[in-house]
Amino acid sequence: MNNIRLFNEDCISGSKKHIEDNSIDLIISDPPYGIDGNKLDKHYNRNESFVIDGYVEVSASEYKKFSLKWIKEASRILRPGGSVYIISGYTNLHHVLNALHSTDLTEVNHMIWKYNFGVHTTKKYISSHYHILFWQKPKGTPTFNTYCRYGDSELGEDSSSLNYKDREDVFIINREYKPGETKNKNELPYNLLKKLILYSSNCGDTVCDMFLGGFSTAIVAKGLNRIPVGFEISPSAFRSGLSKFNSFEDGYLIGETRVPEKNKKINGGKSWTEEERSNLKELYLSCKGMSKKDAIDSISEKLGRGRWGVEKELIKMGLVIIGNKNGSKTDVISSGLTTRSLNDYYN
Ligand SMILES: C[S@@+](CC[C@H](N)C(=O)[O-])C[C@H]1O[C@@H](n2cnc3c(N)ncnc32)[C@H](O)[C@@H]1O
Repeated sequence: MNNIRLFNEDCISGSKKHIEDNSIDLIISDPPYGIDGNKLDKHYNRNESFVIDGYVEVSASEYKKFSLKWIKEASRILRPGGSVYIISGYTNLHHVLNALHSTDLTEVNHMIWKYNFGVHTTKKYISSHYHILFWQKPKGTPTFNTYCRYGDSELGEDSSSLNYKDREDVFIINREYKPGETKNKNELPYNLLKKLILYSSNCGDTVCDMFLGGFSTAIVAKGLNRIPVGFEISPSAFRSGLSKFNSFEDGYLIGETRVPEKNKKINGGKSWTEEERSNLKELYLSCKGMSKKDAIDSISEKLGRGRWGVEKELIKMGLVIIGNKNGSKTDVISSGLTTRSLNDYYN
């Protein structure tokens, strides 16, 4: 793989030296927390003997300045339309958010990542989440691969949309338990990184991590045939991370990545033509004897549109109502046209 640029340097001076303006497609970064990292093992109640030395922390008093500086660099190197994800605990979240607001970047989502192994406490609630701040650089075409993991019609066991569920802004993803494996103090789960990289980049795109740590972002980017770029200031973390990175093959994750089913709602989101509307009316009237739900499901499939799109159009046309006065979802369409209007529906 060409163009891999992984540096054992400070990300602020290092990116100034090595990375051109507007050149990176995606940044995923998990900065040091500014909460005395050496105590993290006590919080997590874990055996530190496999955790590599050399994690470089930033003091709480420096955190504001530090955040402003590295986020300014991140914003400079990101291409217009490029995305940045920053993973942050709550202690210094305000500094990270203020730094983001001081750039030209714009907010897309604020996600919560809920993980297992929460920080153990006895006299208060147990902290088991991080914040993931998803921002983009304006004036370019953003990459968001809506159907990269689940097709538009794939349903879970409870009949809910898997695509919808996967894109909800609370992620429930467990940390990976790696007993006996050498690791950085706070490695992000590969499953989390895989998700962010698949949604917000394409093969061949550059994916930068300003704080490589255990090189997780770089390893997953390599596994998905993206081009990793990044910085790690600690020589020991860098050495250990790089040797791990080199033990993975390019594209090693491609074969094991779930292929989503083909989208069925190929006309979803398009405006309705007059011809399609009259087709819809005919289809609906031919559904006599079916439940409203089955009728709409069958029409959606025939027209390549989502259920809600079809239902909305039928409501607009005064053909369908939802509610329990004159008909519920499971009512049988007996006379074709129903009597309630859109206004009735909203009232
Ligand atoms: C929270 S860890 C990153 C963990 C990483 N996401 C992973 O999954 O392994 C933060 C890392 O940033 C490194 N670091 C601290 N200050 C830095 C700086 N100015 N430039 C580059 N790396 C830095 C630390 O040594 C630490 O390894």
